[in-house]
Amino acid sequence: MRVSFQLNGKPVEVEVEPRMHLADCLREELRLTGTHLGCEHGVCGTCTVIIDGAAVRACLVLAVQAEGSAVVTVEGLSSEEALTPLQTAFRKHHALQCGFCTPGMLTTAHALLTEQPDADADRIRSALSGNLCRCTGYIPIVEAVLEARAAYRKTKP
Ligand code: FES
Ligand code: FES
Repeated sequence: MRVSFQLNGKPVEVEVEPRMHLADCLREELRLTGTHLGCEHGVCGTCTVIIDGAAVRACLVLAVQAEGSAVVTVEGLSSEEALTPLQTAFRKHHALQCGFCTPGMLTTAHALLTEQPDADADRIRSALSGNLCRCTGYIPIVEAVLEARAAYRKTKP
């Protein structure tokens, strides 16, 4: 089946099997391997992408369900010129070790702070509770997201 959607701000059209999930479509067909796959059944959060503004597990969405949507992956959060404020905060607070969970952490945090740039630590912990990290512990991750809030407050209309 042919599916068309916006991917990181650009239109894409791709031929997929009806049973292919969005994470495989992104990685295998569109070669965006920043979206990682851990459990493939909605538990670990490492496949999280943003669809029409909401953080969504790409292993639980069929690629064909993305038809007409705006999809943002971790690659779409980056700038070629410099680290983004969220990336800078992750680096400063040592909020990653192996980095396997990090794409999902970043996309989840980005979706949260875009909507709620004043989210407090409890709200951040709640939003990230579906993203499993087996390396860092969560304190540095929450500290990084708390610090990044200032940049999102500036861009909130
Ligand atoms: S790979 Fe999608 S939630 Fe784990
Ligand atoms: S940094 Fe290794 S799983 Fe999170």
